[in-house]
Amino acid sequence: MSEIQTLFEEFKSKNSHLEAEELIDAADKFFAKGKLVSFSSFGSWSALLLDMVAKVNNEMPILFLETQKHFPETLQYVEDIKQCIQLRNVIALKPDDKILTNIDPQGELWKLNVDRCCWIRKVEPLDRYIEETSVQAVITGRRAYQTKERQKMETIEMDDKGKIRLNPLAFWSKDKIKEEFAKRSLLQHPLVEQGYHSIGCAPCTRAVNPGEDERSGRWAHVTDYQPNALQKTECGIHLGAEETKDWVI
Ligand code: ADX
Repeated sequence: MSEIQTLFEEFKSKNSHLEAEELIDAADKFFAKGKLVSFSSFGSWSALLLDMVAKVNNEMPILFLETQKHFPETLQYVEDIKQCIQLRNVIALKPDDKILTNIDPQGELWKLNVDRCCWIRKVEPLDRYIEETSVQAVITGRRAYQTKERQKMETIEMDDKGKIRLNPLAFWSKDKIKEEFAKRSLLQHPLVEQGYHSIGCAPCTRAVNPGEDERSGRWAHVTDYQPNALQKTECGIHLGAEETKDWVI
């Protein structure tokens, strides 16, 4: 059995029963410094997971994929949340300059090949960081109710690229998240009150109308530019290498 598989089996057998914040605490104690990171989109409900992480260890690396296509409000929110909950180690990961110059010199790839745009701006920078730092485990804010793909997630799982993935909020409902968010008096992303309930890059996110699915504003433009394309539901950072192999340059 590989070292990572052994760590996974051991961690899972001891910690499967834990609640979200206890799970983060157990992981913080189990993995060596720098081998456990969290990632956050600093989107609509991200502050909840960030607050849990900060309460356990506010020096844990929090990776933020700075795609260079975020809403200005998101970039301001990163700064405000860092202050509010005293996050001390937010690491902004940017796309590779050479790749951008070669593949997306006008910054308009999102219109023509949205998957490749996500790969350049999110998947590649994240994979590069993880490889360079030999991260073993990541904490994400994904929830099972969000998409069809996510319904099969587990709280403690192995991803397809050889990392342990912890999803402390995997089985939280939207109402439970909102309730806990309010209980902790967390600062909300300023776009939420304008109808943005799932927030990614600015060109690929729109507000949703009351009653619409919260993710229906994500990549809603895709079929305008590529009428035969399937509706995109994942940016790719949580998919396996096989599933994103056609996105790669
Ligand atoms: S996405 O695939 O649609 O973009 P979503 O916005 O639901 O993902 O976020 C799910 C989880 O992916 C977040 O909780 C976070 O862990 C991670 N994530 C998404 N976007 C980013 C980002 N820009 N930087 C870091 N992590 C992110």
